[in-house]
Amino acid sequence: MYWSTLLALAAPALAAPAPQGFGGGGGQSGGTTMLRFGCTQVVIDRIDPLVNPGQAPTSHIHQIVGGNAFNVTMPTDDVSKYATCTTCQASEDFSNYWTANLYFRHKNGSYKRVPQGGSAYQFSDRFSTQTNGGILVYYVSAAPGKITAFKPGFRMLSGDAANRKAIANQKLQNCFRCYTGPNFGGDTAAPCQGGSVDHVGLPPKACAGGIRSNILFPTCWDGKNLDSPNHKDHVAYPTSGPATFLSLGGQCPTTHPVRIPQLMLEVVWDTTKFNDKSMWPSGVQQPFVLSTGDDTGFGQHADYVFGWKGDSLQKVMDTANCMGASCSTQVPVRQTIDQAFNCKVGAKVHENYDQWFDKLPGVGDMPMKS
Ligand SMILES: *[C@@H]1O[C@H](CO)[C@@H](O)[C@H](O)[C@H]1NC(C)=O
Ligand SMILES: *[C@@H]1O[C@H](CO)[C@@H](O)[C@H](O)[C@H]1NC(C)=O
Repeated sequence: MYWSTLLALAAPALAAPAPQGFGGGGGQSGGTTMLRFGCTQVVIDRIDPLVNPGQAPTSHIHQIVGGNAFNVTMPTDDVSKYATCTTCQASEDFSNYWTANLYFRHKNGSYKRVPQGGSAYQFSDRFSTQTNGGILVYYVSAAPGKITAFKPGFRMLSGDAANRKAIANQKLQNCFRCYTGPNFGGDTAAPCQGGSVDHVGLPPKACAGGIRSNILFPTCWDGKNLDSPNHKDHVAYPTSGPATFLSLGGQCPTTHPVRIPQLMLEVVWDTTKFNDKSMWPSGVQQPFVLSTGDDTGFGQHADYVFGWKGDSLQKVMDTANCMGASCSTQVPVRQTIDQAFNCKVGAKVHENYDQWFDKLPGVGDMPMKS
C-alpha cells in the first residue's frame, strides 16, 4: 500500500531521524512527495468565511490555522497579498485551514472544549510535536504523473457539517483514530484505511490515548473554477476512490482531469481526561460532540483557502521523493514554531470558548448550513 509505505518511512518507531536519501530533488516524474508540516492555531472563532462569508457569529465554532488574513470575509484573489504572518512552518503558506472543534458532553448536560495535543509523528521537529491546538498539514503527490498546485483564489470544502449518517464512500476520506494507549498507542496503520483503530464516526468507546481526526480533500480539479457554490463541485475524488488513488492506478474523472495535491489535515484531540465513564451521560457509547452539535462524527468537515505565495507550493510538489518532516526542508522559506506562535488573529465573535457551556454556542440558535 502506498500510504503504508510512506508512513512506514515516516513512523517514529522505525526511523527516529529523518530517513536518509529522501531529501533530494530531481523533478517529479515517477516520484512521490509527502510534504508534512505543522501549523499552530491562529484563532478559535465562530466565523466561516468560506460557507458563511460576512456572517458573525455563524452556527458553530471552528479552530483555524494559517495566515493572518483570516477574516469574516476573505479576499477572492491572492490571499498571500493580504497576510503578513502565518502559523505554519512553511512561512510562505498564508493559506487557512479550519475544522470544527470537539466538545465533551457531561452527564449534567454541560459541554467543555476538548484540548488539542501535538502530533503523533515524533521526529525531532517541534513543528510536528508542539503544535498544541494546531493542525498537521499534508500535501501528497502520488506517482505517476504531473501534480498541479492550487491557484491563487482556490478554495474547497471537504465533508458535510449537516451529515449524520455513514456514507459508504466517505470511508477513507474522513475518519477518527482511537489511540489505544499513551504516546499515540496503536498508531501503525495509514490513516482512514479501515481496520480496528480508525472509525468513520466518533469512536464508540473510550480511547485511552485520545482521538485523532484525519480529513482528506479531493485530488481532482475541473481546471477552471477556483470555487463553486457548494465549494465542492469544482473538485472530485478519483473515480476509483481516494484509497486506490493513493496506491496505484487511480484516475481522475474526465470532468475533473487536473490532478491536484492530496491535502490532508490531522488534528489530535486530547480526550484522555474525559475517559472516566462516571462523567458520561448514561447509555451513550461515547461522550464527544463536534461543535456543530454532531455526536456521530459523520459531519466532520474541513475548509481550505489556498494562500501560498507565488509558485512555492508547486516547487515543493515537483521535488521527487521528499518525505514527511524532512520534506519541509524543501520549503524555500521556513520559520520557527516560536515565530508561528506570535502570529494571531483577533476573534471577531467574543466568546469564552473554554467555559462550561449549557449548550453549544450557535447550535440550535440558527438553521445550520452545511
Ligand atoms: C477584516 O475585515 C474588516 C472588514 O470586514 C476589516 O476592517 C479588517 O481590517 C479585516 N481584518 C484583517 C485582519 O484583515
Ligand atoms: C457540570 O459539571 C461540570 C464539572 O463538574 C461543572 O463545571 C458544570 O458547572 C456542571 N454543569 C451544571 C449545569 O451543573
